[in-house]
Amino acid sequence: MAGIVIVGAQWGDEGKGKVVDLLAERFDIVARYQGGSNAGHTVVHGDETFKFRLLPSGILEEGKLCILGNGVVIDPEVLCDELEDLEARGRSAAGLRISGNSHLVMPWHRIIDAQSELVLGALKIGTTKRGIGPAYADRASRIGIRVQDLLDPEILRQKVAAALSVKNDQLTRIYGVEPLNGELIAADLERRAARLRPLIADTSKLIEDALRDGRHVLFEGAQGTLLDLDNGTYPFVTSSNPTAGGACTGTGIGPTMIDGVIGLAKAYVTRVGEGPFPSAAAPADAATLLEVGAEFGTVTGRERRCGWFDLVGMRYARRLNGLTELILTKLDVLSAFETIPVCVAYRLPDGTTSQDFPWHQSDFHRAEPVWEELEGWSDDITGARSFEELPRAAREYVHWVEERLEIPVTLVGVGPRRDQILAPHGLDRVGTSR
Ligand code: IMP
Repeated sequence: MAGIVIVGAQWGDEGKGKVVDLLAERFDIVARYQGGSNAGHTVVHGDETFKFRLLPSGILEEGKLCILGNGVVIDPEVLCDELEDLEARGRSAAGLRISGNSHLVMPWHRIIDAQSELVLGALKIGTTKRGIGPAYADRASRIGIRVQDLLDPEILRQKVAAALSVKNDQLTRIYGVEPLNGELIAADLERRAARLRPLIADTSKLIEDALRDGRHVLFEGAQGTLLDLDNGTYPFVTSSNPTAGGACTGTGIGPTMIDGVIGLAKAYVTRVGEGPFPSAAAPADAATLLEVGAEFGTVTGRERRCGWFDLVGMRYARRLNGLTELILTKLDVLSAFETIPVCVAYRLPDGTTSQDFPWHQSDFHRAEPVWEELEGWSDDITGARSFEELPRAAREYVHWVEERLEIPVTLVGVGPRRDQILAPHGLDRVGTSR
């Protein structure tokens, strides 16, 4: 098994948290490689429900080494709150390690994120307003503040002051909001630093050592493939690389350390935020998917836009990530429909039909779905405990996905609990395809 990446194959919210929680027991390390508190994963563990934004989902496995890699942007306030909450519920975060090279999301990043969305008006991205884009922008501009700066109060103060000498100008002159007080921010950070300092480590080395020792590492991506900064539906994307390559740059290991890439997809599709959505369902069906699938954002509470499985987007996800297998979640939601439309190609503005994801945004914005209709099953499948127990049409839906994408579907979700995840090829097959 060794180094396996798990990546959202659509626009995020594919249910990664639950699956990582399930798979974590089979790995020695779970390492998150990008994103920040824009991510939201809900994990149902026994009778308890946990909602994480920053902590890797594997944290619920007692004693598991969980890493926030250098590619993650860390809001210290959110992280400290999550740690406190976890401990208040009798869980330990002792296994958490944070890369010293990760960048911090600072209060000005959150304000700039919200203000720039206001300025964009109708052209807005629909961000989560957690400061993610501005934090990554400062990283690229080489003026960011890093987790390792928390180790030295003097350096921390200097960096906050230096950043604010520019940011306060931006806040007051461009956005017309109040300037921030550097002393207060530094003092607040200093308090949180005391909590975080023991967790800061050379996480790249921890991972390499583990892999060289023959131990297993699960690289956990946040968001999803089509939100990838470079190859997603730009500009309606996040500011990092959720795609599998991000696991290398975002944790500090080389591509030869990766043995397989598991994609996660819902049996249908959702999208939050702005941007085109070719396989959007008709309003009545979208409303049913929204209601039955409880499709509301974990972080923002926003309604997700709902649509049908998009084979064009999924083939693109296979290409961008080099997917070796797929996990299909929320199959039970489709029980609400007599027949199930699936988008198999896009009709482009020039009248041609394409199975390839359009590389030009104007084509993508105007792409029309070409539908196929698959047989539905109507039975409630949430009680199924093996793949064989599923109705024939539900099994055929899964086989159809496997055949069209030419990769095995190794797990199928039929409900939110751990025992509602079925393994069509047996649990031992998960993470072994190359
Ligand atoms: P940002 O990541 O907050 O900058 O938001 C950029 C885009 O990514 C927006 O469309 C968000 O709705 C979307 N986004 C960010 N995080 C998630 C996520 O965890 N799930 C789904 N969409 C997300």
